[in-house]
Amino acid sequence: MEKIEVLFTEEEIKDSVKRIAREIEKDFNGEEIVFVGILKGAFMFISDLAREVNLNTKIDFISVSSYGEKTTSSGVVKLIKDLDNDIAGKNVIIVEDIVDTGLTLKYLTDLLNQRKPKSIKLCTLLNKACRRRVDIKNDYIGFEISDYFVVGYGIDYAQKYRGLPYVGHVILED
Ligand code: IMP
Ligand code: MG
Repeated sequence: MEKIEVLFTEEEIKDSVKRIAREIEKDFNGEEIVFVGILKGAFMFISDLAREVNLNTKIDFISVSSYGEKTTSSGVVKLIKDLDNDIAGKNVIIVEDIVDTGLTLKYLTDLLNQRKPKSIKLCTLLNKACRRRVDIKNDYIGFEISDYFVVGYGIDYAQKYRGLPYVGHVILED
């Protein structure tokens, strides 16, 4: 069994979503943006963010999977579900739950850049900077975390705990 210890409360997450929303509004100053959520982990974050950002927004989703730990090091990420709509000429903000090695976001920014968006920015709720293997630039970050395995607020452990309203740290016990 595992135990979950609270790392960021519902209140702290709300404050962080509000702060990021204000930064996005300032950066895009009345322009339209397309939020691209990475399934499944970002579903809760993107829904709160979209409600908080006071701009014209469109929402789309993309789904990727990384091969086993051995092959992720080579950056092999597989596209499971593509966007439904064209992003040419659009301001895109990729919304991720957590950035670890950075390989997923590297793959996605390279892929989406080929479609000639007006701009691409990266937004993540959690950032594990200490685990980074490729250079990517996060434009909006909720919280910096150490090398914890976390769950909740959309993030899973073996598909469990996505529905928790807070982010917790998993402690394995037997
Ligand atoms: P990256 O390509 O290594 O940056 O992988 C990022 C993805 O790994 C995230 O979107 C999560 O799906 C998953 N991930 C990384 N760290 C955690 C964690 O602590 N808990 C749950 N999933 C994680
Ligand atoms: Mg993910």
